[in-house]
Amino acid sequence: WPLIARDVEAIEQLKRARNAVVLGHNYQAPEIFNTVADIVGDSLALAREAVNVDADVIVMAGVHFMAETAKLLNPSKTVLMPDMRAGCSLADSITAADIRLLRQHYPGVPVVTYVNTSAEVKAESDYCCTSGNAVKVVRAVAREWGVNRILMLPDEYLAQNVQKLVPEIELIAWKGHCEVHERFTPQDIRDLREAHPGIVVLAHPECPPEVVAEADYAGSTAGMADYVRDEKPARVVLITECSMADNVAVGHPEIDFVRPCNLCPHMRRITLPNIRRALETMTHAVEIDPAIADRARRAVERMLAIS
Ligand code: 13P
Ligand code: SF4
Repeated sequence: WPLIARDVEAIEQLKRARNAVVLGHNYQAPEIFNTVADIVGDSLALAREAVNVDADVIVMAGVHFMAETAKLLNPSKTVLMPDMRAGCSLADSITAADIRLLRQHYPGVPVVTYVNTSAEVKAESDYCCTSGNAVKVVRAVAREWGVNRILMLPDEYLAQNVQKLVPEIELIAWKGHCEVHERFTPQDIRDLREAHPGIVVLAHPECPPEVVAEADYAGSTAGMADYVRDEKPARVVLITECSMADNVAVGHPEIDFVRPCNLCPHMRRITLPNIRRALETMTHAVEIDPAIADRARRAVERMLAIS
């Protein structure tokens, strides 16, 4: 604790000196999430809040695509990544060239890409979506474009989970997976139910559809947090990255959280010491080629307009 307190104090001073804010994703470790993070939420909330930030500097306590999204929406601000290696298996699963090839193969079919992608991939896309608004976005795109086929990339499982909710639209998927959520199995859920009778199971839609089918509810990280707040289950398990339960549990001491643990190695690269270093040295600033940024921003802004 003394070490954590020293870093937290230094970061708070640096935030004031630099006119900086820290945006923290729900998967950040509790010592970041509950201390220096000024704004916390799911990918959608962080993108929305990034538009309204009234500071010169944004530090992203999250992964690289989140920092790029914040930069796209705030080109004049400095956006810092405490560790540039904090990537994402989904973002790594598809390139801009892949999208160009898919477009040749499916002429006229709109492309909706998950926010967990690089700016180059977003630039080749018509719309972005997050797990919190994917259903809304694909329905709006089908309506606005007058189509019943959409390329939904790159998360195969998200596309399959959304597909169940929009049977009237054909979603064409890619083979990208989240390395954290793909590890959960339906048997894990059955074992949890047997070990903890009456447990409520909440799953992230990046999980395989067979896992989501075993859950009581599927939704984004914010959706899961809202479910816990509103429904107040006596005992619950969040089938997602394990820091999420640690963070939600802080506000609900009355609820029994069962915590299987799958950590995201990319999220774990962000630490209090490297947030402090980012603010001390003003590194690593995220830069996006303006020609790419303009096209990528369009896809993100179209998403924000829908949701
Ligand atoms: P959400 O917070 O948007 O649900 O995203 C989950 C995720 O895996 C982000 O990396
Ligand atoms: Fe990417 Fe999965 Fe980690 Fe989120 S949890 S950053 S989707 S690898």
